[in-house]
Amino acid sequence: KNWKGKICCIGAGYVGGPTCSVIAIKCPDYKVSIVDVNPHRIAAWNSDDLPIYEPGLDDVVKACRNRNLFFTTDVDGAIVESDIIFVSVNTPTKKHGLGSGMAADLTYIESACRRIAQVATSSKIVVEKSTVPCRTAESMRAILEANSRNGIRFDILSNPEFLAEGTAITDLFGPDRVLIGSLQTPEGLAAQKALADVYAHWVPRDRIITMNLWSSELSKLAANALLAQRISSINSLSALCEATGADVDEVAFAVGKDSRIGPKFLKASVAFGGSCFQKDILNLVYLCESLHLKEVAEYWRQVVVINEYQKQRFVRRIVHALFDTVTSKKICLLGFAFKKNTGDTRESAAIGLAKYFMDEDANVHIYDPKVTDEQILMDLSEPGISSGIEEVKKKITIFKDAYSAAEDADALVICTEWDEFKALDYQTIYQAMKKPAFIFDGRLLLDASELRKIGFKVETIGKPSPATRGY
Ligand code: NAI
Repeated sequence: KNWKGKICCIGAGYVGGPTCSVIAIKCPDYKVSIVDVNPHRIAAWNSDDLPIYEPGLDDVVKACRNRNLFFTTDVDGAIVESDIIFVSVNTPTKKHGLGSGMAADLTYIESACRRIAQVATSSKIVVEKSTVPCRTAESMRAILEANSRNGIRFDILSNPEFLAEGTAITDLFGPDRVLIGSLQTPEGLAAQKALADVYAHWVPRDRIITMNLWSSELSKLAANALLAQRISSINSLSALCEATGADVDEVAFAVGKDSRIGPKFLKASVAFGGSCFQKDILNLVYLCESLHLKEVAEYWRQVVVINEYQKQRFVRRIVHALFDTVTSKKICLLGFAFKKNTGDTRESAAIGLAKYFMDEDANVHIYDPKVTDEQILMDLSEPGISSGIEEVKKKITIFKDAYSAAEDADALVICTEWDEFKALDYQTIYQAMKKPAFIFDGRLLLDASELRKIGFKVETIGKPSPATRGY
């Protein structure tokens, strides 16, 4: 077949998979290959059971897989034949060495670039899709140019991804904007245009914005910092609500009506999670520190500080309401994913809560509609969370549905805002629980007055607290 162009995506994860599958369905004239070094992940992408859960993703993949969309471990082959190469590998927070716990680990970016340079036999547009510190494109260029064959050009673009997990497909079909940064040289601008032409298959031109590389890289960190800041802002106010008898939902509604503020991202909760917010803010903080901008670093660091504070505050409230002890009590966590409509548990608030309850020697029951048992056991066995799998197996029981998880429990804790938790038969659950039966709503999901009619003691983040304050 005569393809108009060939695209390769290195990294078949939460970003590379959905993003390039959507490119494939919207650009039938392009061949899209999504490659990964992890053969299990690629096998899953080629099966009926995709490695990530994302509403609408199955249909997109089924519509174009093995037509113009291919999942393969043949990284080199895909690099050689493609004109445009997305680098969509993971960039986690460094766990050791310089900048440990703050800076982004760019090992995977570097090895992807070295691979591209080694095997490329023609010029390529290399697109930085991963979220990276500002000026990473410069390092990529240095690695590519130092390792490539003579006469081969690499043009590097920054094209950060703004999709949100749980709504990735809708976000990708109708993005608020597509951002493409390039060097402002004739070659840079030509590369920018080539990538814009791909997106223009379905994104209106006025939503494809172009700018210089460094602005584009920094815009992604800035967007995540500002989004997380809104959550920490409303969460800090939720503490004030609990202390005064104000209701954080009412406060958020009132302030959100101001068109300068707007209603989105003002939902209080037990904490934000996910692989990006904390990592990207810490990355920004590290960048500020390395540029000697101490005050700016401190300012953004507080967003993460409040997030941790919020989890601890919630746990303290739970323990206090449960008569100041949870030792040997059955605490049922409903939800383990970091938000609804995803099976992703990275930085999930539920992990932090489970850790605190394990520390208190509680029996923790867990149910999540999408997260696998293996994932839960693995997350909770991490150093810093527990002493390892033995402790986890002793203290944690995983259930296949909410009703059996709640049986005989002293308390339910809503950790994830899954829709199905709103539709549970709480009368039945109440009967099966120990009394007094408590519900701690970390997502402001349930109707507390209805639950109180059944007999539950209900404590909700940011809401008047009858048990602990008497409001
Ligand atoms: P992920 O961990 O799900 O996927 C990354 C994949 O890259 C893994 O499957 C890994 O095996 C593969 N990989 C690593 N090095 C490789 C190499 N040298 N060659 C081939 N494959 C390689 O990560 P995720 O969540 O997709 O994130 C990717 C990037 O996108 C990160 O920088 C992240 O910050 C950014 N991002 C993530 C968003 C999200 O919602 N998860 C949203 C926007 C950006």
